[in-house]
Amino acid sequence: MAPILPGATIGILGGGQLGRMTAMAARALGYDVHVLDPDPDCSARPVASRVVTARFDDADAAADLARQCDVVTLEIEQLAPTALEAVARHARLHPGAGAIWVIQDRVRQKDWLAEHAFPVGPFRHAEGAADVAAAVRELGACIVKSAHGGYDGRGQAHVLDPGDAAAAWQAVGARRSVVEQRLDLALEFSVLVARRADGQMAVYPPSRNHHTRGVLAWSVTPADLAKEVARAGAEVAMGIAEGLDLVGLLAVEFFLTTDGRVLVNELAPRPHNTYHQSERACATSQFEQLVRAVCGLPLGAPTLIAAGAIANLLGDLWVTDAPPDAVGALEVATARLHLYGKREARAGRKMGHVSAVGQSGPEALARALDAYERFRPAACPAIDRP
Ligand SMILES: Nc1ncnc2c1ncn2[C@@H]1O[C@H](COP(=O)(O)OP(=O)(O)OP(=O)(O)O)[C@@H](O)[C@H]1O
Ligand SMILES: [Mg+2]
Repeated sequence: MAPILPGATIGILGGGQLGRMTAMAARALGYDVHVLDPDPDCSARPVASRVVTARFDDADAAADLARQCDVVTLEIEQLAPTALEAVARHARLHPGAGAIWVIQDRVRQKDWLAEHAFPVGPFRHAEGAADVAAAVRELGACIVKSAHGGYDGRGQAHVLDPGDAAAAWQAVGARRSVVEQRLDLALEFSVLVARRADGQMAVYPPSRNHHTRGVLAWSVTPADLAKEVARAGAEVAMGIAEGLDLVGLLAVEFFLTTDGRVLVNELAPRPHNTYHQSERACATSQFEQLVRAVCGLPLGAPTLIAAGAIANLLGDLWVTDAPPDAVGALEVATARLHLYGKREARAGRKMGHVSAVGQSGPEALARALDAYERFRPAACPAIDRP
């Protein structure tokens, strides 16, 4: 298939921060960008020359977006199949509806991984509290995760005892869920793969990730993993991208358990929070790479050119009396501030991140965490350190 050259128009389903940063990379390459998002004031709006304001299940609006685009990609996987089909009738759609269909439902995703012999932790399906109780009796302490709509730890509940199953089921409030055994984690890491329609792939070096209360707090590359762990991660990530015939980006979140197992946690068919440092640390950022992959351009080198780290800035930092200190954060060596232009700060909402580079992962991370600490109003809790 002929490449889609600069000057053409890229559509993005979703105009959050991932759409915004992808749009900026597309603009840098000389593409025009159109976006579909339910919020007319979404993060990508200032970078897009057209915003179609519609829900992600509005097939007419999706067709309207696609008619004016040469290729359409996405920054969110919660998209109605009818909307994806409508897009595909009018423009190239990468990644395709098939891969999105598998990934967008946690139950389907887990089943697909298990059926294709990719390593996942023990899990069960649940369609009611009784299933949860049975799973906990078999597997011990578990986490219930709703099939749809969960992100940043939402739609999840921990169950330590079968007697807590009913409360957990109600808290999650889903019709279908997966119940995962709660694993003892040594650490978490992720691997990003870019894949073109002809099957060519580029694999990024792993990121090491730290979550607080189910939300990513910081991420650093290089991850400083044992060679065989990094190799297993890269092989599994490439295998999944091939198995799903995914064109674009695939981020695979991994657990390394205390007993040495490398297990897939979950998949994302789009740019990922744990690769924001690729803008600084890699020869090709994840956002530029997505554009290259979906346009059929040569993939850029994912090579590390510096160690890089990010720390997330959640809305909590804005909802205290004192404002955060942007000037102080920017005084830290190599620090950059990335704000997503969201007007309304809410606790837990991702508002931006700070990034830093260095000679080593620990140095880059120390700088990013320093920048975070300078930014943080005194009333907010300190960030977790490694
Ligand atoms: N089975 C498990 N055992 C131990 N910890 C877990 C398990 N599942 C999830 N966690 C912890 O909770 C975090 C969030 O879980 P998960 O990735 O499933 O949720 P999410 O809402 O999709 O998060 P995000 O959107 O931030 O990736 C994980 O990164 C990990 O720290
Ligand atoms: Mg996750």
